[in-house]
Amino acid sequence: MLKELYLPNPELAKEARIGSMEQYWYLQNSAKNDYEGFWGAFAQKKIDWFEPFDKVLDESNAPFVKWFDGGKLNVAYQCIDRHLDTRKNKAAIIFVGDRGEEIAVTYQELYRNVNKFANLLREDFGVKKGDRVVIYMPMILEAAYAILACARIGAVHSIVFGGFSAEALKDRILDAEAKVVITADGAYRKSKPYMLKPVVDKALEEGDTPVEKVLVVERNGEDVEWVGGRDYSYNELIAGKGITCEPEVMDSEDPLFLLYTSGSTGKPKGVQHNQAGYILWAQMTMEWVFDVKENDTYWCTADIGWITGHTYIIYGPLAMGATTVMFEGVITYPDAGRPWQIVESLSVNQFYTAPTAIRVLHKMGEDEPGKYDLSSLKVLGTVGEPIDPTAWKWYYEAVGGSKCAIVDTYWQTETGGHIVSPLPGATPIKPACATLPLPGIMAEILDPETGEKVEPGEGGYMCITRPWPSQIRNVWGDEARYVKSYFGDVKKDGKPVYFTGDGAVYDENGYITITGRTDDVINVSGHRMGTAEVEAAIKKHENVAAVAVVGKPHELKGEGIFAYVVLKSDEGVGDEIEEVRAINNIIKQEIGNIALCDDMIFVPDLPKTRSGKIMRRILRTLAKGEKVTQDTSTLEDPSIVETIEVMIGREC
Ligand code: WTA
Repeated sequence: MLKELYLPNPELAKEARIGSMEQYWYLQNSAKNDYEGFWGAFAQKKIDWFEPFDKVLDESNAPFVKWFDGGKLNVAYQCIDRHLDTRKNKAAIIFVGDRGEEIAVTYQELYRNVNKFANLLREDFGVKKGDRVVIYMPMILEAAYAILACARIGAVHSIVFGGFSAEALKDRILDAEAKVVITADGAYRKSKPYMLKPVVDKALEEGDTPVEKVLVVERNGEDVEWVGGRDYSYNELIAGKGITCEPEVMDSEDPLFLLYTSGSTGKPKGVQHNQAGYILWAQMTMEWVFDVKENDTYWCTADIGWITGHTYIIYGPLAMGATTVMFEGVITYPDAGRPWQIVESLSVNQFYTAPTAIRVLHKMGEDEPGKYDLSSLKVLGTVGEPIDPTAWKWYYEAVGGSKCAIVDTYWQTETGGHIVSPLPGATPIKPACATLPLPGIMAEILDPETGEKVEPGEGGYMCITRPWPSQIRNVWGDEARYVKSYFGDVKKDGKPVYFTGDGAVYDENGYITITGRTDDVINVSGHRMGTAEVEAAIKKHENVAAVAVVGKPHELKGEGIFAYVVLKSDEGVGDEIEEVRAINNIIKQEIGNIALCDDMIFVPDLPKTRSGKIMRRILRTLAKGEKVTQDTSTLEDPSIVETIEVMIGREC
């Protein structure tokens, strides 16, 4: 067994904040022995409080919990102001644009730019503490300023990924009752301009909208429509703004942001994160998991539209006073050497990306890393989906030169920050394994029936048995959904515990390997997608009678989307290719390109039980092209399985 493990590089261990397994266990055991003492001490030390908290953890209304109640702080102050004494001329953000431009913004400049932005929102737009602001932006510096400006004035931001459609944007605006949208005319992708503002226009065009004002940052200078009295130019308004702005004094449990994510049923959920607990864990995990040092340059390739971008491009790195790279471009453009060229040119020390990106870079440019000097790298991170051993090995050897720690970080939008991950100077690593819970996180794999911890080798449900500071606080506006979604499935010692939705397994060392979702959520290129959402979009096609969507293993994306569609009639419709195109167009309108189907098959019916429940397990097996071994005798029409089997066989 030991030969599978890679011991930490002694050079890293020597300098690391957590430099041995003894230290790891010391921390984890101290959390177990005195949970509130552990978290209280870190909160006191890491956060610059305006007023101290009274209580570490209040579980009296569980699963609604309060952390550091009574404390007063401001997250933008934590990320910027408190660094000015010692780091004012240090680069806070290094922006690398799609067309190659590089701009370093110091902490002092960040302070000024965020304050000006915050003053604009306060003075010109009347944004107040608690107001919701939707940010629909490309990966440009103004997006970072917008996020931090909201935090400074206590507005609750809700970032919507720039790849989502007008319909998806509209849903999120309505659910959050946002008063303001911040966007850009567009940006650049692969050196060509693309547009965002028209999507916002479309999202606001029909029906009642809560949005009063739209702020438009000029990025690519393309023509956009302008709605008088609603649309305002950032570039014009920002010019006269003051460079100081009093930070709003926030309570620990005031909301900081919403981020919509897919669940197994219904519409996306507005995951609500609050101030103190979130920023504490964002900062602590940055320090522990990436072990960023004062002079290091850290780069996470995510988009700010996902939780990884929130916690590990903006909040975590800035809270600890690090230099964070923000990349607008596409990592394979102009070629698959692009990321390695950036690593070389900026001497990047920690690099964080998704398995999908690693697989694509491996496939498109296996030898590219060898062409660059990557000796600055110390820690390589992965996130978003299980990584396969082949991709892991290439990352470790070709990119990391067999000397870097690979941190396979397991977490979710709802957890706010990492929960299971190796520590670069301490944990012996195993390919494609997230290893151990971080200190303070009581993550356990439980048997859903008994609530007991499972034995090594037996699969179970990945749960967290105690609240933790950066946990989701609520599903925006829907307390019942919060309770049902996360605390409904598993009980330990009779008490509901947080269930992640993922399956996992221990090895004989107690290491955790995540095996994937147990629910109807699929993971396409590390993007979480509810099959129910895709089905709802497809059902909007007038000729669709029924549909079932499942995930299918995909060489590069991890999972692809496989749709089984039953048409109402064959009459009056064009050929199948036309039909697929029409359905995909609807998906594009309803959700966005990220939800397009990889496979679509028109079937006469779906395998259903006599009570009408669609047997998704069977559909998953069929999508893989495997023989169905499940019992089909309880189906309303068992012959349908064979029919679909033959149809899929024929297509292949
Ligand atoms: C999956 C992304 C295996 C998991 C931060 C989880 C992973 C979902 C890993 C959350 C990992 C994330 N290994 N699976 N290291 N990290 N996942 O909310 O299924 O976009 O539930 O957050 O991604 O996706 P989300």
